[in-house]
Amino acid sequence: MRLSPSVLAADFTRLGEQLEIVKNAGVDAVHYDVMDGDFVPALSFGDTILKNIKNRFGDELFLDAHLMVTEPARFAEAFRKAGADNITIHIEACKHIDRSIEAVKDTGAQVGIALNPGTPLDSISEIIHKVDLVLIMSVNPGFGGQKYIDYCTDKIARLNQWKKDLGLDFSIQVDGGISPQNVRQVLDAGVDNVVAGSAVFKNDIAANCCAFREIMKF
Ligand code: DX5
Ligand code: ZN
Repeated sequence: MRLSPSVLAADFTRLGEQLEIVKNAGVDAVHYDVMDGDFVPALSFGDTILKNIKNRFGDELFLDAHLMVTEPARFAEAFRKAGADNITIHIEACKHIDRSIEAVKDTGAQVGIALNPGTPLDSISEIIHKVDLVLIMSVNPGFGGQKYIDYCTDKIARLNQWKKDLGLDFSIQVDGGISPQNVRQVLDAGVDNVVAGSAVFKNDIAANCCAFREIMKF
């Protein structure tokens, strides 16, 4: 069970300090949202801040890069060099998904495949055996602080059943609108990796992490 706090919601003038708080609260991962203003409407950041996080925390935090960019494989090498342990790319952002997955694998990083809320599970049927992680987006990507889309719970449950039927062991991650108030429902549906931005970084970060930890038992 893993909580992956999304640094998108952090205070960038105090990023190192806030990640220390997260780490001291028992969290072992960071989710890093990259946006290009094309695949999603907003811009966020490139690989430099990730490199700074890697330099400060080394292997103490698993670095999970979520590339919400058009043709993300173009940047796989750069994010791997900056320290990404996992690189997640969107099925909707790649013209040649098999080639893109191979490009991420070639860097030595783990590979994740992300699906927008409206993208059917079937769209990844041919490549599901190749990935380390499937990310079910539970908001439309592009912004933090949005409301969880309820039909995603059933999608997670169907993915979990499919995973069992196939005998695969990829991780199931959920991203968008998750808080201590609704995390139980996604865990029950089969999620083992929870991304949370605003619910971690708003107000008391340590208390927020503890609230997740009590429910998730990480
Ligand atoms: C949305 C991003 C999320 C976002 C989550 O496009 O992929 O990772 O930071 O933020 P919250 O938890 O506030 O919905
Ligand atoms: Zn994300």
